[in-house]
Amino acid sequence: SRGREDGHVALVGAGPGAEDLVTLRAHRLLMEADVIVHDALVPEAVIALGRRDAERIAAGKRKGCQTRTQEEIKALLVTLAREGKRVVRLKSGDPLVFGRAGEEMAALRDAGVSFEVVPGVTAALAAAADFELPLTLRGVSSSLVLTTGHDLKSRALPDWAKLAISGATVAVYMGRTNAAEVASLLAEAGLSPDTAVAVVENASLPSRRRLHGTLADLPALQDRTSLAGPVMTIIGDAVAGADFTASEPLRARVAADSPA
Ligand SMILES: C[S@@+](CC[C@H](N)C(=O)[O-])C[C@H]1O[C@@H](n2cnc3c(N)ncnc32)[C@H](O)[C@@H]1O
Repeated sequence: SRGREDGHVALVGAGPGAEDLVTLRAHRLLMEADVIVHDALVPEAVIALGRRDAERIAAGKRKGCQTRTQEEIKALLVTLAREGKRVVRLKSGDPLVFGRAGEEMAALRDAGVSFEVVPGVTAALAAAADFELPLTLRGVSSSLVLTTGHDLKSRALPDWAKLAISGATVAVYMGRTNAAEVASLLAEAGLSPDTAVAVVENASLPSRRRLHGTLADLPALQDRTSLAGPVMTIIGDAVAGADFTASEPLRARVAADSPA
């Protein structure tokens, strides 16, 4: 067993938001933690699963609002571990999917701090479940691409656009504010404008909102400024198999959502 002097960091996936999508292992580590360092997307109900006396530190980051830089977070994790603390670094979804866990693991490794990684339900999977949407579908789609709408400008045509035309289902993280660019990249790569698109805000939570349409409708997502929560976009022929009965059309109500 570990002595109190040996700190330890667990990089833990909090899941997409619903507290009952937290794994049993994540729950146990939260109960054991002296300190919980959490991202802004992790809901209060999940952070509350830790001990009442655990220290809780908000580490950012939501769009446009950052409490600590990535450098500061890395330094904080190392410092806490060196103080002998059992630290849970709680990240939304899965820590290894667009979670910058790579940088944090490298810092912990360099500092000789013991750490482990606990997977979580990533947002794409929660969004697909909310739509009863098969991410792979026999004879239609046999691959799944997890990509981001973030930072597209700095790159040439990303390979995922090519994968999309060869039948992959594409799940786009952080893709609301540049939905038009994502759509045009895919259209340029040759994806049909009729390709089905499903969008979920706040997947897995009671506040979730579902929208659907086609690739031709996707640019309208950018005008949906009322979608203030995290948004997942799933594109591909397999999406056509989703249940759209509880979902609204992507193109509708654009005027109502636009600033006056
Ligand atoms: C920095 S990434 C973190 C992803 C996270 N590590 C994961 O595995 O889900 C943040 C993006 O994840 C997506 N996301 C996270 N939680 C979500 C949710 N409950 N519903 C929809 N999208 C979500 C959104 O695209 C959001 O912009």
